[in-house]
Amino acid sequence: MKILITYFSNTGNTEKIAKSMKDGLIDYDVDLIRAKDVDPTTLNSYDIVFLGSGVYASRIDKSILTMIKKAVPDLPTKFAYFCTHASLKLFQEPFKRITNIIKEHNCKIIGEFDCVGENLGIPLDTQLSMLERLPEEQREKAKKDMEKIKGRPNEMDLENAKNFAVSLVKNL
Ligand SMILES: Cc1cc2nc3c(=O)[nH]c(=O)nc-3n(C[C@H](O)[C@H](O)[C@H](O)COP(=O)(O)O)c2cc1C
Repeated sequence: MKILITYFSNTGNTEKIAKSMKDGLIDYDVDLIRAKDVDPTTLNSYDIVFLGSGVYASRIDKSILTMIKKAVPDLPTKFAYFCTHASLKLFQEPFKRITNIIKEHNCKIIGEFDCVGENLGIPLDTQLSMLERLPEEQREKAKKDMEKIKGRPNEMDLENAKNFAVSLVKNL
């Protein structure tokens, strides 16, 4: 079985998840490639393609969408998504545009993984001054949430990502 794990990662959180998935899939033929470096014409040579990104303004990075659009109509039949985000729960639909393309071409999304990733892309001072501008009742909660995401993805997140990838591929 041939597997592609491709991703965009601005500050390294999603890349950690991608690498942990690859580590788990040691028994398989896995390519780990940044989305901007993927040759779109090779996409349908994979049995499954994992697409990953951080979430930025509720969306994944456009390099993923660009790569998929270039590969159309020669898409692989199976995709899985993974993403990292600073909100404690993923409430957005960051892959929505890609999902539309994938479904139009009768491909399947066979699994989705997401986890929290500390916001390292906005300087701490800026984040703290944004918090200060919130109404008092929201500010305390936002400060606590910020503490909760420190250091994520952590070891447990990476283990969860690995287990997700392994069980998905095993059950194909
Ligand atoms: C400009 C910018 C916009 C972001 N927008 C969101 C967002 O809409 N929702 C969210 O949950 N996290 C958001 N985040 C946080 C990132 O999704 C999170 O830190 C993620 O783990 C970054 O992944 P990366 O290190 O792979 O780039 C944003 C971060 C930056 C820098």
